[in-house]
Amino acid sequence: MVTKRLNLHKSGPNFSRISLGLWRLHEWDMSTTDLTAYVEEAIELGITTFDHADIYGSYGNEELFGKLLKQKPELRERIEIVSKCGICLVSDARPENHIQHYNTTSDYIRMSVDRSLKKLQTDYLDLILIHRPDPLMNTTEMADIFSLLLEEEKVKHVGVSNFTPSQFDLFQSKMEVPLVTNQVECSLLHLDPIYDGTFDQAQKLNRSPMIWSPFAGGRIFTDDGDRAQKVRNLCKELAENYNTSVDQIALAWLFELPCNPQAVIGTGRSDRMKSAVKAMNVPLERQDWYRLLEAANGHPVP
Ligand SMILES: NC(=O)c1ccc[n+]([C@@H]2O[C@H](COP(=O)([O-])OP(=O)(O)OC[C@H]3O[C@@H](n4cnc5c(N)ncnc54)[C@H](OP(=O)(O)O)[C@@H]3O)[C@@H](O)[C@H]2O)c1
Repeated sequence: MVTKRLNLHKSGPNFSRISLGLWRLHEWDMSTTDLTAYVEEAIELGITTFDHADIYGSYGNEELFGKLLKQKPELRERIEIVSKCGICLVSDARPENHIQHYNTTSDYIRMSVDRSLKKLQTDYLDLILIHRPDPLMNTTEMADIFSLLLEEEKVKHVGVSNFTPSQFDLFQSKMEVPLVTNQVECSLLHLDPIYDGTFDQAQKLNRSPMIWSPFAGGRIFTDDGDRAQKVRNLCKELAENYNTSVDQIALAWLFELPCNPQAVIGTGRSDRMKSAVKAMNVPLERQDWYRLLEAANGHPVP
């Protein structure tokens, strides 16, 4: 079984419905050869979209991925690469940063994209995202630099992450091309975008959101809190009824959302990648969907 594909926007990009996030790559303890095998396995499963950010692994993970592309450059045309910019971490790799902050100036965005391209050993990104909304952001300046990067073909598409609907509207109003997605957190343990207008806006504008931490960073399987335990127990019960697994129920629940989301999973294990791909074929019934919502909310719908 392979994962389906979707266009985030009618103009593209065309991504796999499940993408692999590389936030935790430095924890996976994989050599370049291991990582190459893992990426090839993902591609076999139809997972061709890989989600990066400049800051992952304290500014180191893009470089780890770039080593595999250097070794196997032919893989580049079989995959899509997303990266993000704008967060400035306090890190040995950035001694100039004395406090965690955001920088969305045009000079910084350009420098960050150039650095990502160099580290990833590629000429272009399929998608660049502003990682978080910056209270100091000048959206006209951001729109200008995004247009230039598109013109220079350093990026094929542009978007944002963790933006409120009004921040998205503001930035989009300055752009001539679409912001193709808003990458946001959502899971059975994090329902905000269902209620705060984020997913309504995505539907209205016909942009598929990318969902990060669809398993709440693993907490769906491990969290001891009351709510999480109730959600997990119900996932287990439904997994038995549907002859499937907890992870597939949790993902299938997200895939029912009418905003047609893309899910960015973060596992370093191939058995879990294989399982995730099957979630698209779990036909979750409407009342079971609502049972999960009730457990996630901690109360029935009114
Ligand atoms: N835009 C943003 O601001 C933002 C923020 C955070 C993340 N992201 C993106 O989203 C991606 C995914 O985030 P995430 O890693 O938090 O996603 P996730 O898929 O919700 O969580 C991954 C974690 O869950 C564990 N896990 C997965 N399946 C499991 C299972 N069946 N049983 C027990 N543990 C399991 C994984 O461990 P194993 O590796 O052992 O499977 C891993 O530690 C990131 O890599 C990044 O690309 C974006």
